[in-house]
Amino acid sequence: MPFKHKKTLTQFLIEERRRYPDASGDFNALILDISLACKAIAKTVAFGELEKTAVEIDLNVHGETQKKLDVLSNRIFVQMNQWAGHLAGMASEEMDDPLDIPSEYPRGKYLLLFDPLDGSSNIDVNVSVGSIFSVLRAPDDVTYPITESAFLQSGAKQVAAGYALYGPTTMLVLTVGNGVCAFTLDPMLGEFMLTHPTLTVPNETQEFAINASNSRFWGAPIKRYVDECLAGQSGVREKDFNMRWIASMVAEAHRILMRGGVFMYPRDNKDSTKPGRLRLLYEVNPIGMIIEQAGGRVSTGETPALEVVPTSLHQRIGVVFGSKSEVERIERYHTEPYEVEQTNPLFNSRSLFRF
Ligand code: F6P
Repeated sequence: MPFKHKKTLTQFLIEERRRYPDASGDFNALILDISLACKAIAKTVAFGELEKTAVEIDLNVHGETQKKLDVLSNRIFVQMNQWAGHLAGMASEEMDDPLDIPSEYPRGKYLLLFDPLDGSSNIDVNVSVGSIFSVLRAPDDVTYPITESAFLQSGAKQVAAGYALYGPTTMLVLTVGNGVCAFTLDPMLGEFMLTHPTLTVPNETQEFAINASNSRFWGAPIKRYVDECLAGQSGVREKDFNMRWIASMVAEAHRILMRGGVFMYPRDNKDSTKPGRLRLLYEVNPIGMIIEQAGGRVSTGETPALEVVPTSLHQRIGVVFGSKSEVERIERYHTEPYEVEQTNPLFNSRSLFRF
């Protein structure tokens, strides 16, 4: 059989660009710069304790301790994307304010938003982490130095979104609004190779992911949904469910892309200053675009998440995403008044929830 090599990310992007003869090539170059940043982070993650970095540990905007690798990954993303002239500005989960492109470099028409190392509490335990990115167009009336308002666009306006997963293999998952495909890093060639040309989230699932330790803070619709899943075959769903929680959203999203499932980090009443755990601009929008481009669904529970117009750069939001039929069911539970008698041991006591 003749040898047929897999497409590289570069070849894939060039072939995609041929469909748009007027394209300048800026977008392709931007994606390649992002992919280079991801490769550099993959290398740093893989070397772990072997590669000591003298990076200052600080507190980030959310008051969480930044890990050395968070800081370093942020620096890598900034340095590899600021010089080429494709960007009008950047925003990162790890930086308080938007980043203007330094004056020695040209500015471009795109905005890059990223979470340089998602799930970084997993680094110390050698569990998968990832980088998430979102690309927007800079508004026509953008002013410089760039301000927060340029980035406050709904997820539906994203031009592209993706993530790199640093797991047993490093993968890059990408959507440019035309389906979702995934590339696996060939560590010998240093190239991302197209290994999954079309990813689709199965519509049905028997797997859900939620941090059950928060169950006493959930609203009634989520309690109802989880309770019905846990009741399994003997309950109203008449089938058994599996539960998973990696505490690395990018890894959960990847599992859902590969085999279906539903992920929930809903708005709860744990802390009234935090309307949800995940960040709209750096986590929910990019993962949401990928999931929807793969045929799944993303929602706040009450509204389609990609339609939410952000009000601040670091806004948090409740989210449910994954297999379409399950997300629609959860949305329906948010609209249906109901009474349910809770008997599940997760909820500790028998009580009556009313929505
Ligand atoms: O937002 C960061 C993050 O690490 C996500 O990747 C993950 O889903 C979530 O936080 C884990 O939250 P918890 O610590 O409540 O399980």
